[in-house]
Amino acid sequence: MEDNNDRIRIKIILGSVRNGRFGERPAGWINDELKNWNGVEAELLDLKDYPMPFFDSAMSPSMLGKKYPNETVQKWSNKIDEADAYVIVSPEYNHGYSSVLKNALDWLSPEWSRKPVGFVSYGSASGARAIEQLRQVAIELNMVPIRKSIHLNWEFIMKSWSNKDISNAELFAPVRKDMGPDHLADFVAELLWMAKTLRAAR
Ligand SMILES: Cc1cc2nc3c(=O)[nH]c(=O)nc-3n(C[C@H](O)[C@H](O)[C@H](O)COP(=O)(O)O)c2cc1C
Repeated sequence: MEDNNDRIRIKIILGSVRNGRFGERPAGWINDELKNWNGVEAELLDLKDYPMPFFDSAMSPSMLGKKYPNETVQKWSNKIDEADAYVIVSPEYNHGYSSVLKNALDWLSPEWSRKPVGFVSYGSASGARAIEQLRQVAIELNMVPIRKSIHLNWEFIMKSWSNKDISNAELFAPVRKDMGPDHLADFVAELLWMAKTLRAAR
């Protein structure tokens, strides 16, 4: 029988706090999928629920021992620390990722370390350029970015605008059917392999 402690804890981070954001769609979809995934415990973290100040710490978070004077940052640290792996869902703004996401990444340090991260992005260039930048940030935080990522093109955004009632499962069905043999399953398999390997090593 599966022990709950053996389950891989994946935190899905929604990197847009914009009013009317599309990001809720892919983040909600990934969360629903992962909640039903064998061996996974998933939780969606919405940065709207963690309104942290702009990074202003006198000391580098790498030297703070996971103790922060700001209550919201401490709450964020505790959540991020629980994880074995992350899925970052990122928009693309002006050729990069969102400032709120960078702020949330910068506030912490050891919490991210030696854990894998997979990226989901969207936009007119499918968010690919934002993810290239995020990979560099992830490496500096000592995370392990996995090779596979999920890039959603503009058609997904248009379809959600023109059909507000469409379910996330229906909207993103092409990821599992038309992007090769179940692109989501390949993505999750890679993330879980890294998460299990790194958890054992940590
Ligand atoms: C300020 C701004 C800048 C944008 N710049 C880009 C861009 O450089 N590349 C791109 O693919 N899409 C760009 N877009 C389109 C966004 O990808 C699209 O609006 C997406 O829905 C944003 O994510 P969100 O709705 O979750 O906030 C931009 C949108 C905004 C609001």
